[in-house]
Amino acid sequence: MSSQERVAVPAIDETPAGEAVPGNDGLAPGRMAVFVGLFSLILLLSTVFVSISFRHFTGVSGWASLVLPLLLTLGFVPAMLLGFRRRHPLITALYRVSATALAFLNFALIASIVCWLVALLQISADSRLLAFSLYGLAAVVTGYGLINAGWIRTTRITVALSNLPREWRGRTLALVSDVHLGNVRGGAFVRRIVSRLNALKPDAVLLAGDMFDGAEVDLTTVAQAWEKLAAPHGVYFATGNHDEFSDRSKYFTALTRSGVRVLHNEKIDLAGGLQLIGVHDGEAGEPARYRNILGRLGIDRQRASILLTHQPSNLTVPEDAGVSLQVSGHTHGGQFWPWTHVVSRVHGRFAYGLNRLNSLQVLTSSGVGTWGPPIRVGTRSEIVLITLADAGQSSA
Ligand SMILES: [Fe+2]
Repeated sequence: MSSQERVAVPAIDETPAGEAVPGNDGLAPGRMAVFVGLFSLILLLSTVFVSISFRHFTGVSGWASLVLPLLLTLGFVPAMLLGFRRRHPLITALYRVSATALAFLNFALIASIVCWLVALLQISADSRLLAFSLYGLAAVVTGYGLINAGWIRTTRITVALSNLPREWRGRTLALVSDVHLGNVRGGAFVRRIVSRLNALKPDAVLLAGDMFDGAEVDLTTVAQAWEKLAAPHGVYFATGNHDEFSDRSKYFTALTRSGVRVLHNEKIDLAGGLQLIGVHDGEAGEPARYRNILGRLGIDRQRASILLTHQPSNLTVPEDAGVSLQVSGHTHGGQFWPWTHVVSRVHGRFAYGLNRLNSLQVLTSSGVGTWGPPIRVGTRSEIVLITLADAGQSSA
């Protein structure tokens, strides 16, 4: 499957190459409890506000207009938690319905705020008609978001790297991140991705984490779907934060079985000496540990290097280590407003696309799947096809 030559490959920073697959402890229960508590409270307050606003402005009454929204949106957290433990069609159905309800809640919240603003500012309008129009628009936007999220686009970009080996000039890499296999997407989604990738004929494929959402999935089906992927210089993976919600080693076993090469905080040389490094999310999230890993890999600054790691964060670490290009995902581009805005505030210009931090180029994909509400509005589900070009000699 791959023509790479393996060099200097400590499997993780504590484990020599070739030893046991590194696991992890999963989510800390305390952090999970805080997240679940806060998230549930926000959902509860938002849903009550939207329900009361809807009843107030449309004149619709009855228990269903209050209880039904609460059941729908508050079902998301138990569906997510149950899904972490077991796979069942009822859990999948509850998750899908409640996640879609959350998408509608987001836009219905905006509609409610607009209704109240119009009322408070005493703007002359038929408030009932306005309310029905805005809540109707929220439903239409949600429907559009569902369709848009399922439409996989190919984004083509050329990246020029200094000291790029002759063998890689004009060749292509496919970047696929954030597949989020779980209650919404499964083996059929992987088959669609694989079919698109095989049509694009990339020379290598980089899977940038969050392959799994965190829910229990049929790993055999998923592995069989990835098996059909053909790339002459290999398919590579490093974990994302969602892949680390539980012991990640089970994913490594399944992916390795399907021919995917998991990069355990290591560097390999592809044909011609192009350096490819993969660092898992857990390790890349700890700057000191991250710096130690990259420092010990012996990255050659005289040759182009590509770092596969999930988040466009802690960027000074790879920049100091002399990495030429980092490829990441994680942000999803925010998926839809206002989260698009939030993600831009958190990650700045590195939230999406190709950007530069001094000598380090960072390419962030908006990902191919979704987390939570399975919608995208103003962002795209994408596979990025990178064409490599030579930027000339550099002694950096
Ligand atoms: Fe993700």
